[in-house]
Amino acid sequence: MSDNNDWISRHAEKTLMRLLPRVRAAMGPMDARYDQMWEGFEQRLRQHWERLFRVLLQLYGWQYDFFYHLEQILVMASRRWADRPEYLKELDWQRQADPRWFQSQEMVGGVLYVDLFSRNLAGLHDHIAYFKTMGLTYLHLMPLFAVPHGNSDGGYAVSDYRAINADIGTMEELSALARILHDNGISLVLDFVLNHTSDEHIWARRARGGDVDFQEYYLMFDDRTLPDQYQQHLRDIFPDSRRGCFTFDPESGKWVWTTFNSFQWDLNYANPSVFRAMAEEMLFLANQGVQVLRLDAVAFTWKRLGTDCENLPEAHMLVEAFNAVAKIAAPSLLFKSEAIVHPDEVIRYIHPDKCQLSYNPLLMALLWEALATREVRLLNSAMWKRARIHPECAWVNYLRCHDDIGWTFDDQDAMELGINPHDHRQFLNRFYTGEFPGSFARGLPFQYNPDTGDRRISGTLASLAGLEAALEKEDAGLIEAAVGRINLLRSIMLSAGGIPLIYLGDEWGMLNDYTYLSDPAKAGDSRWVHRARQRWEARNDVTDAEVLEWRFFNEMTGLIRLRKQLPALQNGNMEVIDTGNIHVFGFVREFENQKLLIVNNFSETPQSIAQEQLNAVTSATRFTDRITETTISNGKGLRLEGYQFAWLSFGH
Ligand code: GLC
Ligand code: GLC
Repeated sequence: MSDNNDWISRHAEKTLMRLLPRVRAAMGPMDARYDQMWEGFEQRLRQHWERLFRVLLQLYGWQYDFFYHLEQILVMASRRWADRPEYLKELDWQRQADPRWFQSQEMVGGVLYVDLFSRNLAGLHDHIAYFKTMGLTYLHLMPLFAVPHGNSDGGYAVSDYRAINADIGTMEELSALARILHDNGISLVLDFVLNHTSDEHIWARRARGGDVDFQEYYLMFDDRTLPDQYQQHLRDIFPDSRRGCFTFDPESGKWVWTTFNSFQWDLNYANPSVFRAMAEEMLFLANQGVQVLRLDAVAFTWKRLGTDCENLPEAHMLVEAFNAVAKIAAPSLLFKSEAIVHPDEVIRYIHPDKCQLSYNPLLMALLWEALATREVRLLNSAMWKRARIHPECAWVNYLRCHDDIGWTFDDQDAMELGINPHDHRQFLNRFYTGEFPGSFARGLPFQYNPDTGDRRISGTLASLAGLEAALEKEDAGLIEAAVGRINLLRSIMLSAGGIPLIYLGDEWGMLNDYTYLSDPAKAGDSRWVHRARQRWEARNDVTDAEVLEWRFFNEMTGLIRLRKQLPALQNGNMEVIDTGNIHVFGFVREFENQKLLIVNNFSETPQSIAQEQLNAVTSATRFTDRITETTISNGKGLRLEGYQFAWLSFGH
């Protein structure tokens, strides 16, 4: 093995020596500015080259024209670097000097659909003040690229990575906005939809028209022989719309691999030209001022017969290759992994050489699980075992996003607690669709699979937490309970290790919006119930402190302000503690001299934590809740009201 490593190192070095002069020549005319620019590029190339070479060799080394592809990739990267705007190069230096900048407690994310939030990019400018009031430093705009008319899977079927959907704006507007956001301390986050393009992308259109080179960009088959063999091991992601992962394309007469919708054609990454082309799209986006790319459906990018074609080693190598190219040509760019898969697999994407950030789907799902059961056992054990990640990386903690909720906890974790994982998932689905007697939730089922009985859940934070049903019943007690649940979850999102990510609309308690049912392009996809148009009218005349929207907004912005003042909340990690009470989730956050104990009561009735339990955390007896600034110092344990949470600092 180490002989092999040495061989690869030597081989990498020799190859670089051969390629450097050509790449340099391709970069452009020789003047002083250019020399300086080249220097930085060459330095980073030398730093990341071996890693890039190693993964590309494993992925594509068998290609007869492997060296040609390497050269093309480097030439492309050097040209993109030459194009990179000065302010971003400046940012590159800053971030290199402070690579953990995103671990600050000041980081707070928001995500929105431009068309639903402000109609278009021009309109978004008017809301920068709003983002600043909320304290956002990270803004993810849901996919806004050119897409097919009608159903485009919420923008995830991209027809052109360099064009913005004309209804939303232009690429020039996007890069101008990126700069303005940056000047306001907000990093722009976009999707990198790398697993598939729409069937209207120019590559797909050429493939359809019979161009064999472009047919190699996708996975196209003359008949069902191979698709049938692959299919035996694949799961259906969208069983409602189509069974199986292949779609017949009448124009080319071929079967096309389509993991998601029929109009989303999976790219063939076994073809090095696809890697180069997509790496170029990635750098193009980085140069528009995008600071974080969300790697969409990253688990699905590599296929191998006889496997489920998810999370294959090559899918990881691909991420590493994209990461190395980014480090060389757009070094401040970060990746965020979107792998909504088994928790062990989620963690494998998180690494400084892969994705520095990742959604935390396990925390998300288990917060909902704990809210339904009023018990935190599964949440506790999972967070105890599975929250730790590489110290240079960070979780992105969220409660709701544009997608459904899937119950991705580990079966073994559940079984160790005497919970039958299958039955428990069935229960959670029944609970969140409101079928379970006594449930407070108003969710909708998503993608029922009759073969497996699986389904997932759609719905907004407020509707799933019981606000919709409570408002309908006009029951003040139920309304308070729902408000309590919403605030409880938000407090955890804002205090757990990682970057909190707010799904815009949730800051004022957005309810389910059922109007999607009358739009034929949306009616078949219940996720639209929680992708509602921002009701600015409703919000603007909210000045009354008794109005729920006002309360939600103010409580949340208050918590965000507090978070930003508490250094203990920075950094990725948190220590889950045993509170000795199955209804109370507790964890300690610590940085330098500050320690905080965060406690959260998941039941509607008062709960306590015994003094012995607290003694295991600290010998301190005086606890001050930083939220209410009240001191609880009786030395006889702690008592929490129903759904109460507290961020406690402690001393003697
Ligand atoms: C991701 C997106 C989801 C989309 C899918 C296909 O999972 O979050 O909305 O349907 O990818 O692109
Ligand atoms: C599956 C995929 C995930 C995607 C989701 C869309 O769970 O793993 O990537 O977001 O489907 O519903």
